Amino acid sequence: MKNNAQKAARLSVAPMMDWTDRHCRYLHRLLSGQTLLYTEMVTAPALVRGRAMHLLAFNPEEHPVALQLGGSDPQELAQAAQFGAEAGYDEINLNCGCPSDRVQSGTFGAVLMKDPGRVADCVSAMREAVDVEVTVKCRIGVDEQNPEEVLPTFLDQIRAVGCERVTIHARKAWLQGLSPKENRDIPPLDYDLVHRMKAAFPDLHISINGGITSLDQARTHLEAGLDGVMIGRAAYHQPADILAEADPLIYGTGQTADPIEVVHKMVPYIEAHLAEGGRLHQISRHMLGLFAGRPGARAWRRALSEGAVHEGAGPEVMLQALERVAPLVEV
Ligand SMILES: Cc1cc2nc3c(=O)[nH]c(=O)nc-3n(C[C@H](O)[C@H](O)[C@H](O)COP(=O)(O)O)c2cc1C
Repeated sequence: MKNNAQKAARLSVAPMMDWTDRHCRYLHRLLSGQTLLYTEMVTAPALVRGRAMHLLAFNPEEHPVALQLGGSDPQELAQAAQFGAEAGYDEINLNCGCPSDRVQSGTFGAVLMKDPGRVADCVSAMREAVDVEVTVKCRIGVDEQNPEEVLPTFLDQIRAVGCERVTIHARKAWLQGLSPKENRDIPPLDYDLVHRMKAAFPDLHISINGGITSLDQARTHLEAGLDGVMIGRAAYHQPADILAEADPLIYGTGQTADPIEVVHKMVPYIEAHLAEGGRLHQISRHMLGLFAGRPGARAWRRALSEGAVHEGAGPEVMLQALERVAPLVEV
């Protein structure tokens, strides 16, 4: 299990609240058989105190899939990690990068960059509770911190308690004054620092994240010595651009996926979801960018987004939208 996730981590799709839900991950898995997929952040209190176990549901096809947890209490995180491992996740990841207010008030996310000792306690407790790999996703620092100093200290401390893999979002988070969205764009990216961390911690598996928008860029980071690349927004908005060629180009195995075939493969998945009382748009909203940059993309997007919200809409809406794409793509 551990090696599966670590091998897959050469490329990963970032955890994204409200975006990388199970339907999104199923779609991404059809585009790439190898890429590591992350859940949205699930908070440890929601699992441990709220018993919100439905948040852990996923489809077996999604493997390799990592559960991202938010929290700052070692025992609570250990319990939540155990629930995640029992549910079958291949990796448990601790969020030390999310700057939102709600998360700050619970003392977790990026604010943990200020307390590496606590992060180490959390990682240690989580590792004791599960057999699957426990990893961390962090920033290069927060607020007035000097990343050159705090990042190596942070990495040192989590490595000392056995964390072997970390993903670094290569920019600071500002805990006051910037919205979560601004915190993903405004603090400048420092890729060079992340590359230097790999040189300083050669035994640590380090993935870089932030602002990477193509497989070519991902390959450049890998060729320069990093172990993995995590892509968020680009993978969501243009999933085929990032994922369809990932298996042959990043892992050197497998075929390029055809997004049109992927649409057809979504039909039984959608039918099963509708049979359980779900709605088409809950799935199709993640598919709007599937043909981004290709002829017919706009017609597809419009037909799908407008058609899918109607009461009783089924996969036929999606297949009709596809008719607008397919002939244009063949031209
Ligand atoms: C809508 C949205 C939700 C996000 N939710 C999370 C989250 O739950 N946990 C997390 O660690 N990061 C979260 N992030 C940050 C991403 O994981 C990633 O670090 C960030 O978007 C930078 O990567 P990118 O430039 O490739 O998008 C979120 C980002 C977006 C756009």
